[in-house]
Formats: sequence, C-alpha cells, structure tokens
Amino acid sequence: MNRTRIPLVAGNWKMNKGPAEAGAFVRDLLESSTHAETSAAASPRAEVAVFPPPVSLPAVAEVLKGTPIAYGGQNCHWKSKGAFTGETAPAFLAELGCRYVLVGHSERRNLFGENDETCGKKMAAALAAGIEPLLCCGETLSERESGLTFKVVERQLRAALGGLPAAAQFTVAYEPVWAIGTGRTATPAQAGEAHAFIRQWLGANLAPEVATRTRLLYGGSVKPDNFGDLLKQPDVDGALIGGASLELASFSALADSATSYLTGLIS
Ligand code: 13P
Repeated sequence: MNRTRIPLVAGNWKMNKGPAEAGAFVRDLLESSTHAETSAAASPRAEVAVFPPPVSLPAVAEVLKGTPIAYGGQNCHWKSKGAFTGETAPAFLAELGCRYVLVGHSERRNLFGENDETCGKKMAAALAAGIEPLLCCGETLSERESGLTFKVVERQLRAALGGLPAAAQFTVAYEPVWAIGTGRTATPAQAGEAHAFIRQWLGANLAPEVATRTRLLYGGSVKPDNFGDLLKQPDVDGALIGGASLELASFSALADSATSYLTGLIS
C-alpha cells in the first residue's frame, strides 16, 4: 500500500442481506466505526464501502447517507431509462446517494452474460451519472495455468477503460476467479505482480497521473488473517471482500487493519 492513496475496504454482499438485515448491519457498522473514530482522534482512516443487493439500498442509504461509510450498487445498466426489465439505471443509484457501482464482477460475467463490451458501456454510463465505477477483472484458473493471466487482464482493461478520458475517476479490483469464494487467496506476490501490471497499463494507456491516483483493490478469499500481508504490497490499495464482509467482526477487523497500515505508513 502506498501513502498517497487512501485504502478502500469494500464489502460486496452479493445476494445476501435483505432490507431489514442490511439496515441493521450498517447501523451496527456505523456505531462500531464511530467508537473507533473517537479513539483514533484525527488520524487518517481507510474508507469503508458496502455493496448491498439493489432492494436493500434504500434501507442502507437511510442509515449511511451523510456518514463517512459509502455504499454502492452491484451492477447497473448503461441506458438511462427504457424497456429493460430488471435493470437499474446509474442515475437511480445516484439518486439514492450511491458513490460507487461494481462493473464486470466475474459472477456477472460468468453467470449473467456480461462481457467486455457491456463493461465498457457501463463504465461510461456510471461516470456520466456521477458514480465512480469499480471495475472487476481477473483470470480463471485454466487461464492462469495456461500463462494467460496478463493477456486476459489486459483485454478486460482495454475494453472497459480504453476510451476513458484521463480525468475519469474509477477503481479497479483484481479478482482472480479461482480465488473467489474458494478459500484459496492469491499469494501476496501473485496479487502484487498483477496489481503492478494493472498500474503500469494505466500509466501507459491512459495517463501517468491515472496510474498514480487510481486505487487497485484485491478480491478473492480476503480474511482478517491474510489481509495484512496483501496490504504490504505497494500496489494493493485495499480489498473487495465477499464472505468476510457479511459478519460485523470480520468486516470491522479488515477495515481496522487497513487503517492501522495507513497510520503506520504515515507516522
Ligand atoms: P470472497 O471474499 O467471498 O472470496 O468474494 C470475493 C468477491 O467476489 C468480492 O467481489
């Protein structure tokens, strides 16, 4: 982790936590982070964000609007309105106060037909609606075993980010598919190498300042006991967390680790 970028600890709840449970969870999360805030006085803190299912967003927004904890959608459509049953326009997420939206999560790519082209359209649409897109990329196990990791990630980055202006504000999550929900986390060296590749790509293909400011998150079986070593990698700026974001104790522990790391770097 690098001191110029504030780390982001993001919880992707996937299809978990309906409105009542989501509202109660963020109330507890807010309360526990307020306690930490008072004891940590004015020292810098990692940013925390949650990505609830769409129907739970209003309940989460009611609790978190105006607080330092951000929230976002897990998906959006690229059109602003129309006959697209089941879809959500980015402007609707913005109206609820969403700061972020996930684009191209591997579950959307593998289970729901999302592809490089739709990811590109969603990136542009989210930015136009004033929401920061969080692009997910990463290779499958067979792609890694065939030595195609960088080729796949490069293709995903080019399709989603290739046409963006240097001013575009986005985040990238490197989520190797083989590490998601499997308990098999990428080693810090594997994550570090992929993140360095992504940062170098941003610098060469968008602009050097994009590479410097863009946060790169690691995702895939992140737990409190492996996060610290991942954060030691200079290009890892936080995590996108599935399973361990569903329990208050583990999610708060992950947020606290990122904050301690940041504080340690700065002091
Ligand atoms: P797990 O942390 O459960 O492996 O999920 C990672 C993920 O897909 C986050 O988007």
